[in-house]
Amino acid sequence: MSSLTIYDDQVRTLAHHTDADAIREALAGIGVGFERWAADRVLSEGAGQEEVLQAYAASVDRLKAEHGFVTADVIRMKPDHPERATLRAKFLDEHTHADPEVRFFVEGRGQFVLHPDERVFSLVAEAGDLVFVPAGARHWFDMGERPSFCAIRIFSDPAGWVAAYTGDAVAERYPRLST
Ligand SMILES: [Fe+2]
Repeated sequence: MSSLTIYDDQVRTLAHHTDADAIREALAGIGVGFERWAADRVLSEGAGQEEVLQAYAASVDRLKAEHGFVTADVIRMKPDHPERATLRAKFLDEHTHADPEVRFFVEGRGQFVLHPDERVFSLVAEAGDLVFVPAGARHWFDMGERPSFCAIRIFSDPAGWVAAYTGDAVAERYPRLST
C-alpha cells in the first residue's frame, strides 16, 4: 500500500497517511504532485516498453501537454540485477535536478523522500502511483536492496535529469525503503 510518513528534523513522526487523497493533499502542500492512474488496457506479465507506454498513453500525453514534456521511457529493475547496489547508491543521497523527476509505477515500488524545509516527507510509491518532483526540489530515492519495479519516466530533456548533490548527509538519518 502507498504510504506517506512526515518526520520532523529529529526523525519524529509528525503524520502518517495511507489514504491516496490525504497523501495527495500533503504532498501538494510542498509542491509535489501525486496521482493515481489506471491502465487503459490490461498489461501482460513482463510487458515491454511499447506495451506499457500504450497502456498509459492517455495519462502520459496529458502530462506532456500540461508540462511540455517531450519523451517517456520505461525502466524495469529486478531484485537480482547485477548492478543494483551501484544503481541504488546513485540516488540515495540528497540531490536536486534541473528538470522535474516524473515517475509512474507500473509494477513494484520505490521510496521518494522530499526535504522541503525542516521536515522530511517519505513516500513509498506503489503500482498505480504517479510522483512529480519539481525541478530544484531537494530529495532522494531508494529502490531498496532488492529492487523490484517497472516505472515510466517522463522527461522534458533526459539530459536535465542528472543528480546535483546538495552535500547534506540528511538522508542517512531517515529510514530507507524496508524490504
Ligand atoms: Fe532524483
